[in-house]
Amino acid sequence: MIDRPSIALPAMEYELLRGVIRDTFGIDYPPNKRELMRVRLEERLRTLGVRRFSDYYRLLRYAPPGQPEWQQLADCITNNETYFFREHQQFVQLAEIARRTAVQRGAPLRVLSAGCSSGEEAYSMAATLESGSLPSGYEVSGVDLNAARLAEAKTGRYGERSFRRDETPPPNVDLERWLAREANGSRLVRPALRARVRFQRANLVDEQQVAGLGAFDVVFCRNVLIYGHELSVPRFLRGLEQLVKPSGYLFVGQAESLLGHRSVFRPERVGGGFAYLRGP
Ligand SMILES: C[S@@+](CC[C@H](N)C(=O)[O-])C[C@H]1O[C@@H](n2cnc3c(N)ncnc32)[C@H](O)[C@@H]1O
Repeated sequence: MIDRPSIALPAMEYELLRGVIRDTFGIDYPPNKRELMRVRLEERLRTLGVRRFSDYYRLLRYAPPGQPEWQQLADCITNNETYFFREHQQFVQLAEIARRTAVQRGAPLRVLSAGCSSGEEAYSMAATLESGSLPSGYEVSGVDLNAARLAEAKTGRYGERSFRRDETPPPNVDLERWLAREANGSRLVRPALRARVRFQRANLVDEQQVAGLGAFDVVFCRNVLIYGHELSVPRFLRGLEQLVKPSGYLFVGQAESLLGHRSVFRPERVGGGFAYLRGP
């Protein structure tokens, strides 16, 4: 293999790129993550035959809006770690909300995994709801910025990294029923569950894109805000206010909080934990 010299990311170009990434996607690259960004984007520059980050910045900035390079950028710079039943207590809470509201509901329960990455969260939601008896049914959607991860989500094939021994489904949810074991050890979501989940690309800080998604009874937006820039959190929250129906619920990750941000959400106890209830 030929040893190629690495492409340097000078401080000024880092500032410019972190600015456009924050403004376009709401994602924060703090001052100490310059090397991480360099590594994540270097291969992309090589593929394009671009030799300097200043040229890459120019290419992004002065190309027509909506050009595919912005999608490539999103695919390179997002952090997509996820696994089935992550922070599993929240799925017990989801089951409790479904049970509580089943009787009064004349329409399917609409739930959203906002920032779904490769889909483990959305399938965990669907497997949870399958095991409750919801007379009017349910719909699960997953949205994310990263097109490559969304393609994996649609395929529904998962290796070991998508499972954690200590993150288990709620007691009455039999995940084995929904995942076929393949010869090489990977697991494939069975068609019946795959058919219950829809994935699409959306940028949660883009008002127009958010408006096109409709409104949901329950939204999981977990481990997304933690990568958001402080100044972008209100933009994410505006989107989430549109996405959650009045009296619907928002779940954020256990390391995240809406404390200190003005919003229509207030914490409420549900199913042994708390979630954010949207006011009217
Ligand atoms: C760390 S993953 C979390 C996945 C899952 N929610 C979980 O908790 O396991 C964060 C996801 O948020 C997505 N994301 C970040 N900013 C976004 C934005 N502005 N719009 C849509 N998705 C975004 C990333 O692409 C990434 O897949």
